[in-house]
Amino acid sequence: LPLFSNHDYDTSLEVNGNKLYNSTSEPVSPCSSVDSVPIEDGRVKVKRKLGLLSGTALIVGTMIGSGIFISPKGVIAGTGSVALSLIVWVACGVISLFGALAYAELGTLISKSGAEYAYLLEAGKTFPKWIAPVPAFLFSWVSVFVLKPCLFAVIALSFGIYAVEPFYHGCEAPMPLIKLVSVVCICLVSAVNCHSVNLATKVQNFFTLAKLMAVGVIVLGGFVMIFKGHTEYINEGFEDTAKDPSSIALAFYDGLWAYDGWNNLNYATEELKNPYVNLPRAIMLGIPLVTICYLLTNLSYLAVMSKETLLASNAVAATWGAEVLGKAALLIPIFVTLSTFGAANGSCFTGGRLVYAAAREGHLPEVFSYIHVKKATPLPSLILTTIVAIMMMIPGDIFSLIDFFSFAAWLFYGATMGSVLILRYTKPDAPRPYRVPTVIPIIVLVISVYLVVAPIIQQPRIEFFYASLFILSGLVFYVPFVLYNVKIKFLEPFTTFIQCALEVAPSKYAPP
Ligand code: ARG
Repeated sequence: LPLFSNHDYDTSLEVNGNKLYNSTSEPVSPCSSVDSVPIEDGRVKVKRKLGLLSGTALIVGTMIGSGIFISPKGVIAGTGSVALSLIVWVACGVISLFGALAYAELGTLISKSGAEYAYLLEAGKTFPKWIAPVPAFLFSWVSVFVLKPCLFAVIALSFGIYAVEPFYHGCEAPMPLIKLVSVVCICLVSAVNCHSVNLATKVQNFFTLAKLMAVGVIVLGGFVMIFKGHTEYINEGFEDTAKDPSSIALAFYDGLWAYDGWNNLNYATEELKNPYVNLPRAIMLGIPLVTICYLLTNLSYLAVMSKETLLASNAVAATWGAEVLGKAALLIPIFVTLSTFGAANGSCFTGGRLVYAAAREGHLPEVFSYIHVKKATPLPSLILTTIVAIMMMIPGDIFSLIDFFSFAAWLFYGATMGSVLILRYTKPDAPRPYRVPTVIPIIVLVISVYLVVAPIIQQPRIEFFYASLFILSGLVFYVPFVLYNVKIKFLEPFTTFIQCALEVAPSKYAPP
């Protein structure tokens, strides 16, 4: 690869005699395809490598992380009764499915990667020009610098906790060690994702299968116990059901966290083969599968322990393992590490795609939209996500970020549901290969408004104010860099450097 050209700031790159350009330079030579990455007018295109199976695995494998092994406690605490907790678990699955079906309409109407970002950008065009990109910009601002790296870090941290647990049986493992192991997990996952899309997909498929088998073991163990007649705890039914709606809302927060990730395939629609068919199908296969897994897993927990035992346990799955598996209880931390590693891989994959999509529209420095000329991985954006995720590990209590996460995430899920309705109005005749019944986005919109507003009203905490302030502070960058299009001169040599060092080139959206 002859990487350097004659000009000082020429950010073009030659591959097999074909010149690649950044978006500001004019291409002068016709380009044909290079190795495996298609090139057109000087830009590289990402390849469509995900089929239906890998797409479904991306959804299922990111949704099932550590939540199902930890959250049941929160759901029981909020609902008070066994029966209501099971209802909440199913209801969370239905909400996720509804949300994802609305995203399926958006993803097949606007088949660009980046999920909420791409949809808010399109729906925003209804507003006056100067304000149109604001919702999408603020979403990318919060997601790139907080939400996605935070998710990645939280999952890596659950990996760290469970990976060292067997070595400290009965005592508390040192936090620095847990964090070190978590950082290793982040780096490993990131390296896989930088190396190849194929490898990342294979890793995702493998770990999804592994975690489904782990869930299968728990479910099977539960069935055996139920057949032996252990139904006394399940039979408690609605005993002690909570009356307070705010405590039931808390149960929903915990449940929905375990289901989070239902929107993941929408981040990578440009890499999905035949997205018009496969996106809705993957959603309709993946989310009900996760719902059934979660329901059966909860039944299995309740076949073994009373809700009091469940409430007293910090790691439900571990308590279950000690009861049912006896000596083989060591399997449980292994299951959880496998599960969290897979979820971390999926989160890294999609986090990187969001940065890439936002940079391509000029909402982040252009270099973050470049992809590797041969591997077609969005290297700079993956590296950015990784660095921010590692920085998130530094502060002590990362779990307080989950509160911020739920607040901000549902704010944007709600806005995206609004986009479905806006786009129905502004683009009534655009082809919609999948059309969701209109009540579905309306229901999810109402739920998301409730999930955002209820905690603020019930327990007005200063954190929500800070969180809102942080979201709005993105405008400080929006006004000069997007609205007035100020170019930072010193970024040019930086872009050239990154382009040469990482062998990355500008990319182009390729419609399916
Ligand atoms: N639902 C997952 C869990 O239970 C969290 C996944 C979050 N990742 C994401 N990209 N949304 O651990």
